[in-house]
Amino acid sequence: MRRPHTRTTRRRVAGALTAGLLCTAGLAAPAVAAPARHPVAAPSLADGLALTPPMGFNNWNSTHCRADFNEAMVKGIADLFVDKGLKDAGYQYVNLDDCWALPDRDANGKLVPDPARFPNGIKAVADYVHAKGLKLGIYTSAGIKTCNSAGFPGALGHEYSDAQQFADWGVDYLKYDNCNNLGVDAKLRYRTMRDALRATSRPIVYSICEWGENKPWEWAGDVGHLWRTTGDISDSWGSMLSILKQNLPLAPYAGPGHWNDPDMLEVGNGGMTDTEYRSHFSLWSVMAAPLLIGTDLRTASQATFDILDNKEVIAVDQDPLGKQGTVVSSAGGRWVVAKEMKDGSRAVALFNESGTAQRIATTASAVGLPDAPAYTLRDLWQHRSYNTAGTLAATVPAHGTVLLRVSADPDWATHPPAAELGLDGSPFVETGTPAALTTDFTDLGRTPARRVSVSLTGPAGWTVRATSATTATVLTTGRSLRTGWTVNAPAGTPTGSYGLVLKASYRSPTGESVTSTLPLTATVVLPPPTGTSYLSDLPWLSATSGWGPVERDTSNGESAAGDGHPITLGGVVYAKGLGVHAESEVSFYTGKACGKVTADVGVDDEKGTKGTVAFEIWADGTKVASTGVLTNAQPAQPLTADVTGAQVVRLVVTDGGDGIDSDHADWADARLSC
Ligand code: GLA
Repeated sequence: MRRPHTRTTRRRVAGALTAGLLCTAGLAAPAVAAPARHPVAAPSLADGLALTPPMGFNNWNSTHCRADFNEAMVKGIADLFVDKGLKDAGYQYVNLDDCWALPDRDANGKLVPDPARFPNGIKAVADYVHAKGLKLGIYTSAGIKTCNSAGFPGALGHEYSDAQQFADWGVDYLKYDNCNNLGVDAKLRYRTMRDALRATSRPIVYSICEWGENKPWEWAGDVGHLWRTTGDISDSWGSMLSILKQNLPLAPYAGPGHWNDPDMLEVGNGGMTDTEYRSHFSLWSVMAAPLLIGTDLRTASQATFDILDNKEVIAVDQDPLGKQGTVVSSAGGRWVVAKEMKDGSRAVALFNESGTAQRIATTASAVGLPDAPAYTLRDLWQHRSYNTAGTLAATVPAHGTVLLRVSADPDWATHPPAAELGLDGSPFVETGTPAALTTDFTDLGRTPARRVSVSLTGPAGWTVRATSATTATVLTTGRSLRTGWTVNAPAGTPTGSYGLVLKASYRSPTGESVTSTLPLTATVVLPPPTGTSYLSDLPWLSATSGWGPVERDTSNGESAAGDGHPITLGGVVYAKGLGVHAESEVSFYTGKACGKVTADVGVDDEKGTKGTVAFEIWADGTKVASTGVLTNAQPAQPLTADVTGAQVVRLVVTDGGDGIDSDHADWADARLSC
């Protein structure tokens, strides 16, 4: 079994409304295809089900087939839905995934619940869940067996009898998978189950799970209420990101009763930071995705509940207009995704794909709002409202999302002006050398910010000194207070990430006092070594990989650290290099002192004929070298990049546009010359 990767820890930074100037640069965001121009007129089921994206729970992401997937779990989740207020927040379906049945049907061809997991059968569980005002979901496959290797029965050829059995048990939702389908046409298989469900007369939400293989968005509008658009999600940043990029361009196909399904939530499962989970949840909501909790709520942290229970974010997902958000811009990993809401407002996600804080900015008109003197801007993670003259901007932490709801609201003046906090200059500190930083406070509001004052603090023992003004009496629309600072880390400070906090306070014209903070990450680094070094011998700043950790001098074995093999490309074995799994990014501090990166790159031989990836080398915000899409059939490709003047060099591997499955990528013999 494959397990989530681990990776270098990064300091967790909370989302801040405020915006600012950047730290370093952009990321490899493959251009997203513009959505089709005309909305798709695909017919829908018109049965009144799933008029907003389904919300609930499914055990798969937390338990897979483990024995702790059982009646006690399902009941425990139903209890928590009620006790923790999740039911009130809109979560409704409690869904069983694979492994609930015995491998063999009974003498009458009926499905038999596994008595070890469900000693009282499925109907008893359904009754329990219904008594709480919730609904029950179940799983099977449009094949002769389900996906698990234990070989549980699938419904192919048993559609009508299995559907009736589900209805008799009181099932309200069916996830219908794609394994062991004997090559029977997908449209036929999924339509037969639709008809079988309809024949039961029980309202059952029908979730098509054929992983996007047959482009269900083009034909399943009148077949199912939702359809998976991709392969399985895993609890890693790279997996979430890859699925996001596959699902975003499908926006025109989603609507009430027929949704794109980028797979269930991983929030709370431990493979991503809370900042990353907030991005996952924000982006799934902006994409009007089903919100199926995939973590065991019986052991979830308060932070997990706080994410899953954010009603302002859920309202974005559940908006009755039912539009999936579309990409406004995505340059340099700075994503702006906007969703039209029924009340005319726009939900706007400012999502930072890159590994360093970045300024992400757009305007009210770019996200589709009408011209107005000013707008009300609501920060859905801060739960605070401001007015803006039209600029929507924030310094977004690495992998973070600022989620806004913006409206051309006549009452905008009742809110204080929005302010943008930003950092200009490098957050890298070599010990013993003072680092110079510049911060900005900018009034984005239509109204002035008065009595503005800023401060910057570092960890204990650090010295931070302002070298210019830290206060301003009044700042009108678009005006900034720019402050210079010197930052010193004490001698002997170990390399790594350290938190600084930029704080601002100001008053609105009515005297209301506002404070805002921007958490910043300063990285204490060693100067890069002179001469030519193998990158696998150098410390990295950050490293992410779609499966398993980034490996030094071996390929990526997908799971635990050190589980790879000798790096092998086209039959050639390399002693040195980095082994990663798409989507991956490894960054190195080069301190404007290096000139060249060289490597032999390709898909590792260990995956046979599988795997397609593309390699990119970035010098700060500029892509300085790249390959096209490479497959396993190709030998190693030499890649050379001029990185002169770069403070940070990033080695990026994308999935080649087809999901991350089997994408074992090697940076063989990767070397840096300084
Ligand atoms: C497939 C599906 C998953 C999960 C498993 C269960 O991989 O895509 O979501 O249901 O099967 O075996």
